[in-house]
Amino acid sequence: MATLEIRDLHVTVEADNATKEILKGVDLTVKQGETHAIMGPNGSGKSTLAYSIAGHPKYTITRGTVTLDGEDVLEMSVDERARAGMFLAMQYPVEVPGVSVSNFLRTSATAMRGEAPKLRTWVKEVKTAMEDLQMDPAFAERNVNEGFSGGEKKRHEILQLELLKPKIAILDETDSGLDVDALRQVSEGVNRVHASGEVGTLLITHYTRILRYIKPDFVHVFANGRIAESGGAELADKLEAEGYEAYTKGGASA
Ligand SMILES: Nc1ncnc2c1ncn2[C@@H]1O[C@H](COP(=O)(O)OP(=O)(O)O)[C@@H](O)[C@H]1O
Ligand SMILES: [Mg+2]
Repeated sequence: MATLEIRDLHVTVEADNATKEILKGVDLTVKQGETHAIMGPNGSGKSTLAYSIAGHPKYTITRGTVTLDGEDVLEMSVDERARAGMFLAMQYPVEVPGVSVSNFLRTSATAMRGEAPKLRTWVKEVKTAMEDLQMDPAFAERNVNEGFSGGEKKRHEILQLELLKPKIAILDETDSGLDVDALRQVSEGVNRVHASGEVGTLLITHYTRILRYIKPDFVHVFANGRIAESGGAELADKLEAEGYEAYTKGGASA
């Protein structure tokens, strides 16, 4: 089983001619087959964690390591990260003009599997996955993210997840901007992927509501650039009832 290990991760960004430390020592282990939720207030550094693992050039790692089965993820190119089995869905996905969803998915699948999927079985795979997510078949011919609604972007993200079956998936704010039906469909997709036992998921969010549909194995409270507390699904209930205040005022409660 593949293991993603984040150790003592410190990350800075340059803003207003100053260097600002955003991540202040993140420690986290995610194994294939496990679902982890990272929850925390806005501005606590959750997206910075996702971008740093994705290798976004804006973020400088000043200390610590990220490894997948002992291999240094931070040294890998974007392609190598995909080939190693990592899927990183970002909070603000980019438009890819002139590339259809269908072609984009096949290119991604080729990058991850190391060979192009056979066309006949591939078309069927895509069709089934889209039906599971209650997506209009015409969606496959649209250009990636061009004019996608919030809900379509998120469904597209889960569609990729179901088709690519990465070893480790990082989903940032997958639930933001979804109505209740879309939230349920997206959650069911995440649950199907979890049930396969093949995917380790790191679900980043500041809402607790998605956890009514997805039961994570582990919940981590993120505050002030690090994990302030870890627990099981019951920690999400506590957060829903009490909010993040205990973590933002002078650090973590014991
Ligand atoms: N590219 C960037 N440039 C400048 N500041 C940034 C950048 N990315 C993040 N930050 C700052 O880092 C902090 C954490 O942001 P972020 O990681 O987006 O938090 P979250 O996802 O938890 O809401 C914020 O104060 C934000 O303004
Ligand atoms: Mg964010």
